Amino acid sequence: MMHVLVSLLLCILFTSIGFRTLGLKEADASMSFCIEKERQALLDFKANINDSRGLLYDWGSQKELDCCKWVGVGCNNHTGHVIELDITFYVVVDPYRVFNGKISPSLLVLTQLQYLNLNYIDFQLNPLPSFLGSLSNLQHLHISLANLSGPIPHQLANLSNLLHLDLSGNHFQGSIPFSFGEWTSLIYLNLSQNQLRGAIPKTFGNCSSLVELDLSQNLLNGSLPKFIGCSSLTTLSLAYNSLHGSMTDFKGCTSLKKLDISSNFVSGNMSNSEGQLSNLEYLDVSHNSLNGSMPDFTIWHSLLFLDLSNNQVSGNVPDSLGQVTNLRFLDLSSNSLEGVITEVHFLNLTQLRYLDLSFNSLALDLSINGRIPFQLSTIKLQSCKVGPRFPEWLKTQENFTHLDISNAGISDGVPDWFWDLPVELEFLNISSNEIEGTLPNMTCSFNGYPGMDFSNNHFRGRVPLVSFSLAALNLSRNKFSGTLSFICNLDKTLTFLDLSNNSLSGSLPDCWMKFQKTLVVLNLSYNNFSGEVPSSLGFLSNIEALYLRANKFVGEVPMSLSNNKRLRFVDLGENKLSGVIPEWIGEELSELYVLVLGSNRFYGSLPSQICWLYNLQLLDLSDNGLSGDIPRCFDNFTSMARESVGDDITSHSYSSFVGIIPCDPHRPCPYGPHVEAQFLDNAWVTWKGTERSFGKSGLQLLKSIDLSRNNLSGKVPHEITGLYELVSLNVSFNKLHGEVPKDIGLLRHLESLDLSNNEFSGHIPWSLAQLNFLSYLDLSYNNLSGRIPAGSQLQRFNYTSYSGNPQLCGPPLTPTCGFPPPPATVVGKKDVEQDEDDYWKSYYIGMGTGFGVGFWGICGLLILNRRWRYFFFASLSYIQDWIYVTAVVHFHKSLESLDLS
Ligand SMILES: *[C@@H]1O[C@H](CO)[C@@H](O)[C@H](O)[C@H]1NC(C)=O
Ligand SMILES: *[C@@H]1O[C@H](CO)[C@@H](O)[C@H](O)[C@H]1NC(C)=O
Ligand SMILES: *[C@@H]1O[C@H](CO)[C@@H](O)[C@H](O)[C@H]1NC(C)=O
Ligand SMILES: *[C@@H]1O[C@H](CO)[C@@H](O)[C@H](O)[C@H]1NC(C)=O
Ligand SMILES: *[C@@H]1O[C@H](CO)[C@@H](O)[C@H](O)[C@H]1NC(C)=O
Ligand SMILES: *[C@@H]1O[C@H](CO)[C@@H](O)[C@H](O)[C@H]1NC(C)=O
Ligand SMILES: *[C@@H]1O[C@H](CO)[C@@H](O)[C@H](O)[C@H]1NC(C)=O
Ligand SMILES: *[C@@H]1O[C@H](CO)[C@@H](O)[C@H](O)[C@H]1NC(C)=O
Repeated sequence: MMHVLVSLLLCILFTSIGFRTLGLKEADASMSFCIEKERQALLDFKANINDSRGLLYDWGSQKELDCCKWVGVGCNNHTGHVIELDITFYVVVDPYRVFNGKISPSLLVLTQLQYLNLNYIDFQLNPLPSFLGSLSNLQHLHISLANLSGPIPHQLANLSNLLHLDLSGNHFQGSIPFSFGEWTSLIYLNLSQNQLRGAIPKTFGNCSSLVELDLSQNLLNGSLPKFIGCSSLTTLSLAYNSLHGSMTDFKGCTSLKKLDISSNFVSGNMSNSEGQLSNLEYLDVSHNSLNGSMPDFTIWHSLLFLDLSNNQVSGNVPDSLGQVTNLRFLDLSSNSLEGVITEVHFLNLTQLRYLDLSFNSLALDLSINGRIPFQLSTIKLQSCKVGPRFPEWLKTQENFTHLDISNAGISDGVPDWFWDLPVELEFLNISSNEIEGTLPNMTCSFNGYPGMDFSNNHFRGRVPLVSFSLAALNLSRNKFSGTLSFICNLDKTLTFLDLSNNSLSGSLPDCWMKFQKTLVVLNLSYNNFSGEVPSSLGFLSNIEALYLRANKFVGEVPMSLSNNKRLRFVDLGENKLSGVIPEWIGEELSELYVLVLGSNRFYGSLPSQICWLYNLQLLDLSDNGLSGDIPRCFDNFTSMARESVGDDITSHSYSSFVGIIPCDPHRPCPYGPHVEAQFLDNAWVTWKGTERSFGKSGLQLLKSIDLSRNNLSGKVPHEITGLYELVSLNVSFNKLHGEVPKDIGLLRHLESLDLSNNEFSGHIPWSLAQLNFLSYLDLSYNNLSGRIPAGSQLQRFNYTSYSGNPQLCGPPLTPTCGFPPPPATVVGKKDVEQDEDDYWKSYYIGMGTGFGVGFWGICGLLILNRRWRYFFFASLSYIQDWIYVTAVVHFHKSLESLDLS
């Protein structure tokens, strides 16, 4: 992932800025003489920059006294004054920052400076010096992605000759200077990707000179200024802020060609024609709160790009869409549109390449005999009504890279012509339909490594020999049968393989070394596989999730799995595995957050090394033959003792790029944006007495220990009360004795506690009554005695929670204990508890509901689903951010040049 981005970046930088300085040098080859004062100023500038690689090698060298010939410097031919300074050439050599330091005031000596470019230099979170506002001849000032912070100095607005100002991709805070909106010379202003707050100053509503304005990806809020005087503005981007306003605010922008206000809170009626801009070519209003019906497209006849996704636009799609003859990109997904889309809507859309109608109540009725004027590269019709017949019009689409017709009401076989898939294919999803039949022997070849999702259909028969290169294959929840021998024919590019919930059988082939570098997720759960777990699984050095649940595997867990050091999720539950719990699990698999070995035939005592798994959140060893004591070291499970931090442990990403050699910086990059997808973990857990599945956020929050149905003896170590975040604890059906730990009340998040069918004795500790979230309790069949703590929520549980303890008394078990009740210390808190309990219930209510829909969650095109991408990358470190940001700039450009010109 990282190196792909780096290499992309290399290509971008090389092609976009690489030659600039070379050009400068040539132009200045004539007799040029440098002014001594300016030479000194440049040397002083260099002295404040850490040039550890000596890239400014000729600055101040004896061989080159003429500063006009120094790398990055440009002078006026006639006067000899330095007029250009641009030291960004180094990025051709190395995309990482090589300069750091600060901006020296000696720059002020260069009074004739017209062009200053300090992009990519690491200014180490220093503020931007306000003295730059005195370089009165400056026309271009570029200090982007330069690790600057603090406020943007308003003095810059004194630069009355400035035409271009780019301060994007820094850490600027505070608000946008008021005076920037009154700047009469400026034609280009880019303050995007900073942390600017507050409202956009009203002065921007009169921006008479601005042609391009980019304030996207900040923290701006408040309402939009009414752009009344902005008649020269052609490009306006305010995306990814928290701005309120309406489409009519832009009606003064009569020249506007590109408007991007995606991911804000812009509201109002989409069909209100008053605000419509007839010259628009690019309109992105996605992720806002627009409503009403769609506008009449006769006004927007020039559009090339239209993204209305993720709003509340309703009604039918007007027929006039068919007249937007230049339209290339159309995304109407996730609205409340309804009705039927027919050929009329596409009448003249010969240029259309990208079509996304997913998540509406739209039906698609295109007949093969009608005229389908376009060749789409992306077709996304998820949850549209496309069936019940397999859409025959797809026959006309020869060159798509993405096709998603999942959950589209298709109950039909797949026609033979369909399997002749385009070589450009990157992603195919026909999951969650009722598609019948077998898969043919596919012999297609692809340029890349596509992902394919056939899950949740009625496919049956053997999985055919699949000899082409895939990055991901999901055949889960079908009726496939036969053995897994086909796996050895797959290309070594496989990253995700999900065959769960089928009727596959036989033993696993031992050819997994093939996927050594690539396989990240392997899910074979809920099949009939038998035999031993092959030791070649130990070659999978990148595997993060291994699901073998609910098969008939026998024998020991092969020791070779100790090599899979990146494993985070292991579910071997419901098999016939035996042997002792290996010590190496704790010693070697330190990334594990889920370990499920339940319902097998493991025996022996629990190795203390298990406590080394400090990331563990879910431990299930239930229903085995384990004996001995519960180790005292359970308090070493730090993830169960601490609150989860934000990062998402439950997802695994893949890209269709796997295996591709990073592209050569000296040639144009052959690969464009690539597909990213995600696999989301899912775990089966005995939760409050019943088995259920946890996925996504549920799994993230679930912290659970299940040791039930073994032969464990001894006491419950009091160390367990240090696992403050534990949500579920089940030690039922063992031979544990002694008292219930007195401090059990410290487990304040406990919702489910099962101590039943052991030999616990003594009183029920008072602290148990303090567990406000406890909604499942089973203490039955022990030797507990005395009164059930009265006047607390413990009375709310069914008497069956306490039965089988002959010496226990009090409500709800018996009406009285025969002696006066102790003072009820917790009386009066009941209402509060009730509220909190309800709150917690609603908190968890979403858990597991995703299972029916998305065992496998392909999140689709990372590159075009920008909101998702934004959050995905937001979690990476800054240097990666930097690369991402630059890469995106490139993608935007390429979208425009490929699709929109
Ligand atoms: C100069 O940069 C190099 C490499 O980035 C770094 O190792 C060194 O500490 C820096 N020196 C100063 C004075 O900042
Ligand atoms: C400098 O001189 C070269 C030729 O000697 C000419 O092509 C170029 O336009 C001149 N540049 C300026 C800024 O005068
Ligand atoms: C930005 O500057 C801070 C402070 O010097 C430094 O810790 C950080 O690594 C820098 N970030 C980048 C991406 O250079
Ligand atoms: C649409 O195409 C038809 C021919 O297919 C043509 O007669 C008509 O003028 C076109 N309409 C527009 C708005 O371009
Ligand atoms: C599909 O792509 C191939 C190769 O790029 C090209 O030759 C062919 O004409 C395209 N087909 C259509 C219908 O555009
Ligand atoms: C697929 O190929 C195998 C082996 O060549 C053959 O036995 C099988 O019948 C073929 N299946 C189909 C559906 O053509
Ligand atoms: C706790 O875990 C660490 C590794 O995370 C291990 O080195 C240490 O021995 C463990 N402590 C106990 C008491 O097991
Ligand atoms: C208590 O549990 C028993 C057995 O599960 C059930 O029959 C009974 O209805 C429950 N009582 C209450 C009050 O929930």
